[in-house]
Amino acid sequence: MNLLEKLINKKKFIPLNQFINIALYDKKLGYYQNKKIFGREGDFITSPLVSSIFSEMISLWIISYWIYIKKPRRINILELGPGNGLMIRQIINSIKKIKTFNAKLTVYLHEKSEKLIKIQRKNLNKFENIIWIKNISRINQDSTIIVANEFFDAFPIKQFFKEKNNWYEQCITFENNNKKKITYYKNKINNNFLKKYSKFFNINKSKVIEYPIDIEDYLNSISNIIKKNNGIFLMFDYGYSNDIGKNTIRAIKKHRNVDLLKEYINCDITFDINFNIFKNIFKENNIQNIGTVSQNFFLQRLGIIERADQIIKNQDVISSKNLILSINKLLNPKEMGHTFHALAFSKKNCKFNLGFI
Ligand SMILES: C[S@@+](CC[C@H](N)C(=O)[O-])C[C@H]1O[C@@H](n2cnc3c(N)ncnc32)[C@H](O)[C@@H]1O
Repeated sequence: MNLLEKLINKKKFIPLNQFINIALYDKKLGYYQNKKIFGREGDFITSPLVSSIFSEMISLWIISYWIYIKKPRRINILELGPGNGLMIRQIINSIKKIKTFNAKLTVYLHEKSEKLIKIQRKNLNKFENIIWIKNISRINQDSTIIVANEFFDAFPIKQFFKEKNNWYEQCITFENNNKKKITYYKNKINNNFLKKYSKFFNINKSKVIEYPIDIEDYLNSISNIIKKNNGIFLMFDYGYSNDIGKNTIRAIKKHRNVDLLKEYINCDITFDINFNIFKNIFKENNIQNIGTVSQNFFLQRLGIIERADQIIKNQDVISSKNLILSINKLLNPKEMGHTFHALAFSKKNCKFNLGFI
């Protein structure tokens, strides 16, 4: 009997977040621990895997911030959820090519999946000063740039929904005691229980609330790093900014939406983040919101088109065609250009806003 069966047997039903945590991250069952996830042959593709030019643009942003804080002699990059490690590999490669960059760089990687840590180690084996870290508060005191691409959309979420003025928590149970099939189970909750979420959602107007578990702890730790380490935080993800919650949970396999209840363990489970959660928690922590822009806007401001022109001049027609297709995927509003957003947060009074105005 696997962990999921044991838990449901014992408790009759389990909350959605606990189910997702097992389906994605359990050492034996978990999707992120076992499957070939990324890329065209995997289940989904992320921006750094579409083209290395995405990570190159992030390196420019990082270097510009380093210059803005007056070129400290030591600097950290902390990446949250590095996947297969290719984004940070490209970032390090690009930074090393910049002749004026003379700081000692330490890279911290925060990753939950043991399998992905192994892949990251392999992809990064030629670099020094890379440290895998479980607790991000344990980084050294140096100035720190935190980056995350599609990190928070891989968090287990709690989901609540309203029916006839009653609120229920979305849970998972066995279908008619058949241990091979799972189904949803609605567990009625006391409305007071939702008070915790009223900072982020209008409970009266919302019909659904989705809340990534653990997010508050992460955003508090990131806030502390921003304050203590002269830090800045740049993230990319899909989501929306509205206090009316939405039902966005979905399962993805081979680049298509699939039935979560049938395919769990063999598919990614994800959701759209409500960016209000970030804005609200960072505001409470006295952290400055630099802005939210589309990925398209951000990358164009950083000069992705000019960089692509430069590359194309020096390569063959087929590689150039592929680059143009990749840039289209990253920028096209119907593809990743408008679905993905760039958000950045800094210390109060920091004037660095490259890519955001
Ligand atoms: C959707 S993938 C994105 C991977 C990569 N950033 C990219 O863009 O290709 C999410 C990543 O975050 C990691 N992850 C999710 N939750 C985590 C957590 N609480 N702590 C550390 N890593 C986590 C996953 O294992 C995976 O590496």
